[in-house]
Amino acid sequence: MCGIMGYTGVEEAAPVLMDGLEALEYRGYDSAGLAVCTEGGSIIHIRAAGRIMNLADKLIQAAHEEVPVTGSCGIAHTRWATHGAPTEENAHPHRSATGLYTIVHNGIIENYEALRDSLEAEGIEFESETDTEVIAQLLEKHDTGDVLETLRTVLPLLEGSYALGILYYNAPGKIYCARKSSPLLIAKTKDGAYLASDAAALLKYSREILRLEDGEVAELEGGKVSVYAADGTPVRKVPIAVASHISAADKSGYTHFMRKEIDEQPEAVRRTLASFPGQFTPQTQQLLKDVRRVVFLGCGSAYYAGLVGRYLVEEGAGIPASAELASEFKALNPAIDDRTLLIVISQSGETADTLSALRFAKQKRARTLGIVNVEGSTIAQECDAVIYTKAGLEVAVATTKAYATQLSIIYCLAAALQGDYILIRKGVPVGGIVKQSDIHRLPDLIGEVLRRSAQPMFEWARAIHRAEHCYFLGRNIDYAAALEGSLKLKEISYIHAEAYPAGELKHGTISLVEEGTPIISVCCRPEVTPKTRSNMEECAARGAALYCITNDNSITVKNKLLLPRCNPLLAVSLSTIPLQLLAYHCAEMRGCAIDKPRNLAKSVTVE
Ligand code: G6P
Repeated sequence: MCGIMGYTGVEEAAPVLMDGLEALEYRGYDSAGLAVCTEGGSIIHIRAAGRIMNLADKLIQAAHEEVPVTGSCGIAHTRWATHGAPTEENAHPHRSATGLYTIVHNGIIENYEALRDSLEAEGIEFESETDTEVIAQLLEKHDTGDVLETLRTVLPLLEGSYALGILYYNAPGKIYCARKSSPLLIAKTKDGAYLASDAAALLKYSREILRLEDGEVAELEGGKVSVYAADGTPVRKVPIAVASHISAADKSGYTHFMRKEIDEQPEAVRRTLASFPGQFTPQTQQLLKDVRRVVFLGCGSAYYAGLVGRYLVEEGAGIPASAELASEFKALNPAIDDRTLLIVISQSGETADTLSALRFAKQKRARTLGIVNVEGSTIAQECDAVIYTKAGLEVAVATTKAYATQLSIIYCLAAALQGDYILIRKGVPVGGIVKQSDIHRLPDLIGEVLRRSAQPMFEWARAIHRAEHCYFLGRNIDYAAALEGSLKLKEISYIHAEAYPAGELKHGTISLVEEGTPIISVCCRPEVTPKTRSNMEECAARGAALYCITNDNSITVKNKLLLPRCNPLLAVSLSTIPLQLLAYHCAEMRGCAIDKPRNLAKSVTVE
């Protein structure tokens, strides 16, 4: 989703800002812009609809027209449209009426209509349709000449979420920033300071990052960073070290980040499992004690990972469990209390729907445990305890390795809920339906599945990529894998795909099956496989083209991918691997923007 970059120092700002925007590109966006304080004392601002490349072209054009964007302080933004179309006028930065304030903003100002109406009633004219512009206009309206003081007046007027980067005409060389419910990070070097909404844009400059907290504001000038609490008192910030296994975005010879990240799964899962005993602290174990209900919470793939957890915990530990879509959770008015364990799953740790559901659950006194990939992210900080997945930086919008690592933690927690905490913490195998000894085989098994599925999935994609519709079937835990496979296919190849519990197809969707419709089944749980097979036959009888991912060699479907033998409850970790590859190849054959699918964002920071 939207991305912020800022720089003040001794270097030319524009190349640093463009570099930062490129590092943030993966989050998803549809326009971009930047503003730089020039040596002549003005603030130049350039914006473009579409890709960052269009913005780069405009910078070149400006240089040819002898208005080069030179200066060593500036802010930049990639916008994912919410209020107003993705046009140049709506792209950030936005300026106040006389150009006193120039700002970039991530988040949504929920009371912007009322604010805009009252500003317009005072005769202030707006240039864009965005909610962001009201902030620039309010800053100018309340300007006292002291930006920090002005912010103390304006920020309380804003409802919703914001991460702000601000240039003030009368303070060239300075960047001001503020945050509420939207991440903002600062990196410092000897003679420069960098601002970004995502560590990916800062790794190049520093491995130590300052994280602004809700309500804090900061002033950056050269290598100097001053942070203040909402009431203006100075705050001493302790830098957070970025984990060494996290590297800056690099395709390492792969055509797409997604393909690279698919291959990184064995290592990512190995690293995550190795870290589990150390992360399963007494405080975390305490959260698991005597729980009456477990709720897994997430969005998109994180929700599907939660669905896997729901099957494991209910069946394995005999504790009532459910997986809930974070965006629906509050409206459910769920019956949760201090004996409910909420397991909050999020790669980014910043998904607004998930964060808002987490805060709601905390009000109801639920115990909260995060499974999060980004260290120090808001969800990680706000949960009672957190277990980090060690996937490293995931760049492709469609998650692969982060999802695989989420599953590995969920297996460990399910094992812990049904077994002996202390033994598990020491890495000693325990019994139950999910055994630690099974879990520790996963990295090798995933590697084996990657090898087995590379060529077959290319072949399947050749047959499937022109299809308009595609259906995924599975029962029980295999249904969770089918859902994830279907999401992968639709989000990156734009083929309409849906997943169904296999038994449900005959109650409606089978009417859509016709000659050649691809039906992809996941059959890994022996208890339900015979019934899924019958459902597949029902489709074949109506002309469907059957594909099957299974660990059962007796299944005779022509297009079959046989998985290595393992505990069927852990097979979801394996069956999603070929489905990722299938989606990847279909998208490649259809010429889609695999790493940055249209309209999608990696980190969805609006509800
Ligand atoms: C977006 C992404 C999905 C992701 C979901 C949850 O919708 O496109 O791939 O699963 O957000 O993201 P999170 O960072 O909370 O795991």
